[in-house]
Amino acid sequence: MKTMFTKPVPSSARGRRQAVRVRLDGLCAGYPGRPVLDQLTADITGLATTALVGPNGSGKSTLLGVVAGVIRPTSGQLRHHGGRPPAFVPQRGAVGDTLPLSVRQTVEMGRWGERGPWRRLTRQDRAAVDAALDRLGIGDLAPRQLGEVSGGQRQRALIAQGLAQESDLLLLDEPTTGLDPEARERIAGVLTDLVRDGVTVVQATHDLRAARAADTCLLLRGGRLVGQGPPQDVLTTEALAEVWQPA
Ligand SMILES: Nc1ncnc2c1ncn2[C@@H]1O[C@H](COP(=O)(O)OP(=O)(O)O)[C@@H](O)[C@H]1O
Ligand SMILES: [Mg+2]
Repeated sequence: MKTMFTKPVPSSARGRRQAVRVRLDGLCAGYPGRPVLDQLTADITGLATTALVGPNGSGKSTLLGVVAGVIRPTSGQLRHHGGRPPAFVPQRGAVGDTLPLSVRQTVEMGRWGERGPWRRLTRQDRAAVDAALDRLGIGDLAPRQLGEVSGGQRQRALIAQGLAQESDLLLLDEPTTGLDPEARERIAGVLTDLVRDGVTVVQATHDLRAARAADTCLLLRGGRLVGQGPPQDVLTTEALAEVWQPA
């Protein structure tokens, strides 16, 4: 499925729209001496966008790390159904803005999993990088240094790096935090298109507009799941007030 981002989604994939892609069952995870996720049981639906919503410290990034395979659960189960390894776009601050890399080189790193950093890029790699740059509308910025472009452009480069991996499960940690409305719109549009093209998208977000536009939400508080389902059911005024109340 190398050309996943350029081919229209096959009708068989549309038919699988509601299939569960990732299942968490009584999952606990955290850091040494710091348990975070507490008995999480949830499904991530395939070919849909899932928003992880919750205050700072509620465990959104930890959950993404678990699904990405970067953090191992301490108990419970995580099951993936099919597909390639997920592509993970970490929170912006987690990536050095001062790395001496061009925008293009940043996106090319998305191919390292396939090639290793020392191998020359193949034509197929270059095509995946071009498609990702193009999709995020940053082709003209490709030669620029990552440290010289705006925050929104840098974020698009990091998302393009995730797309270049051509996974069918894309995990994004607060992809629109701190961006202006135009950049947010652009990214939201890209994510919608990706789902249409056969990708399952999970994003942690503080942006309630983005969360309301998702197909499903998981609402977290203090490492526990306090809501799961369509945004209009989960992100009620009462639920949000409750979750954001000081503990
Ligand atoms: N690397 C780490 N080591 C220890 N504790 C961590 C680490 N990363 C996050 N935490 C703690 O885990 C909890 C959940 O954090 P996190 O998953 O980042 O929440 P969120 O993304 O919702 O803000 C917080 O209390 C945070 O301080
Ligand atoms: Mg976080």
